[in-house]
Amino acid sequence: MIDCIKKYSIVTWGCQMNEHDSEKMSGILESLGYESTNIKEEADLIIFNTCLVRENAELKVYGNLGELKALKRDKPDLIIGICGCMMQKEEIRDFIKDKYRFVDIIFGTHNIHKLPELLANHNLTTRMIIDVWEDGGNIIEGIPAKRKYDYKAFVNIMYGCNNFCSYCIVPYTRGREKSREANDIVKEIKMLANEGCKEVTLLGQNVNSYGKSLESKTTFAELLYLINDIEGIERIRFMTSHPKDLSDELIYAIRDCDKVCEHIHLPFQAGSDRILKLMNRKYTKSQYLNLIEKIKSEIPDISLTTDIIVGFPGETEEDFLETIDVVKKVKFDSAFTFLYSIREGTPAANMDNQISDEIKHERLKKLLEVLNPISNENNLKLLDTVQEVLVEDTSKTDDTVLSGRTRTNKLVHFKGEKSLIGKIVNVHIVNTKTWTLEGNVISKK
Ligand code: SAH
Ligand code: SF4
Ligand code: F3S
Repeated sequence: MIDCIKKYSIVTWGCQMNEHDSEKMSGILESLGYESTNIKEEADLIIFNTCLVRENAELKVYGNLGELKALKRDKPDLIIGICGCMMQKEEIRDFIKDKYRFVDIIFGTHNIHKLPELLANHNLTTRMIIDVWEDGGNIIEGIPAKRKYDYKAFVNIMYGCNNFCSYCIVPYTRGREKSREANDIVKEIKMLANEGCKEVTLLGQNVNSYGKSLESKTTFAELLYLINDIEGIERIRFMTSHPKDLSDELIYAIRDCDKVCEHIHLPFQAGSDRILKLMNRKYTKSQYLNLIEKIKSEIPDISLTTDIIVGFPGETEEDFLETIDVVKKVKFDSAFTFLYSIREGTPAANMDNQISDEIKHERLKKLLEVLNPISNENNLKLLDTVQEVLVEDTSKTDDTVLSGRTRTNKLVHFKGEKSLIGKIVNVHIVNTKTWTLEGNVISKK
């Protein structure tokens, strides 16, 4: 009997959007009777959920696809599907059709709900099935998700992006901005709370512009108040915020909603006004810095993280020093730093004065030399304080050590029983490092 159960494996690259899409595909597959496996050799269905944001994300997919060829040769009934952002590009689909003929199903970011139909169609044909939608129609509600954790969950509040930052491929892979109705979001989070979920992360490429596409024009701040009232939910996080849309109303909502965590991820990308303009970011360095001042004065214990790109076309040493200046002034808790990567089809790909890899690497190194000591200093300030931590897991190397996150999203390690996983505890911080904190549990909530 056991042998009849079909197994699936999903490999995910990219951001939380993709991670959550994979959770939805898992939910769909389990409702069809599939079971998950991490062992590719055991799988009857393997899906690659791909990312296109930088070249290295793309190359990883090709590397891994090559390895599947042998698997498919040994097990011809194996179904191989590819979906996600890469599949929204026609040239990439053509390349896969040509070079990776053993792929069975290709679909895109807008039609993962069609997975059962695609699998059924696959059974009727030996040809590669390609079904990619250019943009989603109405938002599809009610797709079951098999979430990785019981106590924390991603919740989409909107899809797509209208910003067209000149370096970024996301608006082309995820389509135009569309917000979910506040009622649907609240309904989903109430259901999650009933199932024991304590922390939700609200997902959108630019959550600050939530509601603009809705008739009700509910703002993101209003949505936060609605979610803050849901019983059982103890922490609310969100990502990502765009500086141009971060209103005072939202700063006050973050300050006043007790469940909204003291952490804002606010990508600034570059410090030079000239580069920001070329990037189409629609704010200046001083506007960004003023915004940070306002946030810090309203929410003094806020943790700030960011995304930074070095080596955007035409970036001079002077421009780069403006980026360093922002880092020094804001004192971010941490940052995701990226080498500018040419994305065909975006305006920046055709700009003059592309920067050499050597200079990009040099600048990244200099940037990290400024960022890392600041992260370390910020963490040092937490020494001997008590932090509220949601216990998430055991440490990868020692299962008597637990890990969890503070409200400010800092990773903390401490000794404790596995039974604490999913609980919120108070931890006394006794040691700090650049990326992590260490402490002792002093009480449970
Ligand atoms: N919507 C989010 C995240 C988008 S992708 C936002 O606007 O913040 C995550 C990050 O990848 C971006 O913030 C940017 O820093 C980086 N990124 C996007 N395109 C890139 C490119 N072509 N090269 C290098 N980094 C890029
Ligand atoms: Fe890309 Fe800019 Fe949209 Fe973020 S806001 S997804 S960086 S286009
Ligand atoms: Fe990558 Fe698509 Fe996310 S390009 S970063 S997976 S939206």
